[in-house]
This record gives sequence, C-alpha cells and structure tokens, in this order.
Amino acid sequence: MASAREQMYLMAILLIFSPSKLTLSNAGAVTGQPIPPEWPHQFHAFMFMNESGILQKLDLWYDWPNGRNFNIIRNQLDHVVSYDLEWTNGTSFVYTLDPSDPTCKVVDFGVGILRPNWLDGATYLGQQHVDNFLCNVWAKVDFIVYYEEVLTRRPVRRDFSSGYTGHVMTFEVGAVLEDANWQAPVYCFDGNEKEKNIPILGSAVRGGSLGSLMREIPTGETM
Ligand SMILES: *[C@@H]1O[C@H](CO)[C@@H](O)[C@H](O)[C@H]1NC(C)=O
Ligand SMILES: *[C@@H]1O[C@H](CO)[C@@H](O)[C@H](O)[C@H]1NC(C)=O
Repeated sequence: MASAREQMYLMAILLIFSPSKLTLSNAGAVTGQPIPPEWPHQFHAFMFMNESGILQKLDLWYDWPNGRNFNIIRNQLDHVVSYDLEWTNGTSFVYTLDPSDPTCKVVDFGVGILRPNWLDGATYLGQQHVDNFLCNVWAKVDFIVYYEEVLTRRPVRRDFSSGYTGHVMTFEVGAVLEDANWQAPVYCFDGNEKEKNIPILGSAVRGGSLGSLMREIPTGETM
C-alpha cells in the first residue's frame, strides 16, 4: 500500500496534470504560492476610488446568486449620485435619480458580471505593504493588480492599468441590497434613454467604473 507521502505526491501530480479548470488555482498550493481569492457570492464593499486625482466614493453590491452587481458612485463634493446597475445577461442601466435632471443610459456589454472565481489563473507577485496593510499581490492579464491582506484575506485595494485605484474601506460578506433597490427607474424603459449622456459617469460608460472595467477582463478562461 502507498504511504501517505506517496499518496500526496500522486495527488499533486494529478492536480498538476488534470485538465480540469481547478488546476489553475490548485497549482498554487502545490508550488507553495498563495491561491488567488474567490469572491464571496454576496458582499457589500464601500470603497474610495481615485481616477488620476478625481476622487469618488463607491458602494459596491455584488450579488452573484441573483446575477447582479451595483456600483453606486458619487464624485467628491458632488450631490449627484450615479447608479451603474449590471445584470448578468450583459445589460447595464447607468442612471441618476436627480429630480432636476433624471438620465438613463442602457448599455449592452455582451458579457455577464464578474464570476466569483475571476481571479483564477492570476499571476502571484509576492507580498507588498499597501494602504498600511501587508498584502498578497496578484496581477490579472496586465489589466488589474489585486491586493489582499495576508493576515485576514480581506481585499484591500485594486489598481487598474488605466491608473484607476480602488481602496476598500469596508467589506461586509453576505450583505445583500434589498430587491426594491435594484429596480431601474421608469425612464430607462421609454426608448429615449440611449442618447442621453451622464457626465459624472462618462468614464464609467467608457469602461471607467469598477464594475464596467471588470467586465472587460477576459473571463473566458475561467468559465
Ligand atoms: C490619486 O492618484 C494620483 C495619481 O493618479 C495621486 O497623485 C494622488 O495623490 C491620489 N490622491 C489620493 C487622495 O490618493
Ligand atoms: C437583462 O435583465 C434585466 C433585469 O432582469 C432586464 O431588465 C433586461 O431587459 C435584460 N436584458 C436583456 C437584453 O434581456
């Protein structure tokens, strides 16, 4: 009978050469590198964002089981709140609720929201001190650098190659936004919404917001 050590060795070989998609994340364990995190299926994160000096606060509600993701964004000292509501069928509703100037833009991204395992296959870059936390650092396709606290495995920060940085201020695992809040306003459905422009979210519509940017990450390899 094989010894425990031999069995572990065999297991490692099987994991390394297994064609399964699990290989990517488990290979890390075999080589002793930390495994990229899988996102909790539902969470609320409050974040500070910095887009080349333009500061924003962002409420991020990730809700994988219900196939939806919400970015609620406010620029520094701006009273207008922008809503970027993403559905996993690829449709995003980008709108304001400001009574003086209600706007809505419907965007079809053609891809769903980020999968919880979207960091699978990310390149481990070692440990760094960022935002006063000692973090494990991963890069995903030269597009995003992801920082997770070594001690608690909480997300700390993410930097996009565009210069957009996101600092996680709170992270509540399991928090879910009530259904009523996921209803886009009626003027998103009147057929005139497409030409309207929303200055605060201009960059988000072009792919500047956290969620929209993330939608552009090639996720095919993790599906
Ligand atoms: C925002 O980012 C810019 C670089 O793009 C940096 O110079 C600036 O210090 C940052 N601001 C804050 C408040 O972190
Ligand atoms: C995607 O889902 C949302 C929410 O259910 C819906 O409002 C929207 O019309 C759907 N988009 C498409 C293209 O079916």
